Amino acid sequence: MAATSDRPRLLTGDRPTGRLHLGHLVGSLRERVALQDSHACFNIVADLHTLTTRPRAKEIRELPQLVRDMVLDLLSVGVDPERTVIYLQSGVPAVYDLAILLQMLMPANRLEQLESVRDMAEAAAIGRDKPAPMSLGLLAYPVLQAADILMARAELVPVGGDNLAHVDIARELAARFNELYGELFVLPQARASRVPSLPGVGAAEDRGRKMSKSIGNAIWLVDDASEVQRKVGSLEDEGLVAFVDAFVADEDPRAELIEAARTGKVGAPAIREAICSAIEAELRPIRARRAELADERGRVEEILVDGTISAREVAYDTLQRVRELMGLEALWEGLVAATEARAEARKAPY
Ligand code: TRP
Repeated sequence: MAATSDRPRLLTGDRPTGRLHLGHLVGSLRERVALQDSHACFNIVADLHTLTTRPRAKEIRELPQLVRDMVLDLLSVGVDPERTVIYLQSGVPAVYDLAILLQMLMPANRLEQLESVRDMAEAAAIGRDKPAPMSLGLLAYPVLQAADILMARAELVPVGGDNLAHVDIARELAARFNELYGELFVLPQARASRVPSLPGVGAAEDRGRKMSKSIGNAIWLVDDASEVQRKVGSLEDEGLVAFVDAFVADEDPRAELIEAARTGKVGAPAIREAICSAIEAELRPIRARRAELADERGRVEEILVDGTISAREVAYDTLQRVRELMGLEALWEGLVAATEARAEARKAPY
């Protein structure tokens, strides 16, 4: 299984807040699939991170469906449970412990200054009458993410631009831990994909922003060919160029088509057609795999449970080493030894 091979480890994943879309595909999923050949991979379904902005009971009741959909999307794009440990974050309690220990090493003002954390707080307040106060959980979001990365001792973390700062935090924590207690962690490296994001589709104002689950300006992995065609129909100029860049697979035809689009040598309808056929070629096998998996009752759940059990072993092992290096094991063992000495003394004959 992936977790026990001696390849360099990779960890990445997403919060289960909705279906995945083409922006995820080009920004991270393709790479996740390709890197399975060279790395021992972990794919986190980060439900605890979802709780940082969605802690209400009603929101938690939506998680089972969201988690299932996410795993189904991952499997259908080719994340392979034989090579990638797909796991549920909240099912690995050792990570909560590790996160608490790492919090001791992180200045709060470093977190307060992070744009990503402030953006998430703002996004969570949209549609509510007052801005939600920044919870301690949201402030510590990047530390929990560092715990995910470090528990797996991951060297490589493929992420989108909005998460690069969090990988920096994980590096800082790894370095600080090593300095204080001894070498344990490799310093994780972020890795961005060739195409980090896609522009949105739909109305003009939605096209001006990047494709996003929460805005809904997305082409979903589950969209059928006619839906894809309708949405690609809304693209113009630089939007078209961005899609050609993301979906025309071969470098030379891609550069030629981009050039032709910019100079007007090829008109928008022909470019849209080229985009649609490239997207279709990529989505067709994904749809077929999804249909197959969705038919096997309990299969998706089984994969997630098996992955979570593997992740638990890895996390527990890391936590043990952390406790040893920090001296917390010695603290506990000292107490147990004293207790044992007393028990021995009680056995002495009168
Ligand atoms: N923060 C990621 C997101 O925006 C999810 C995530 C949680 C993650 N833990 C991680 C990504 C560890 C990479 C590595 O959805």
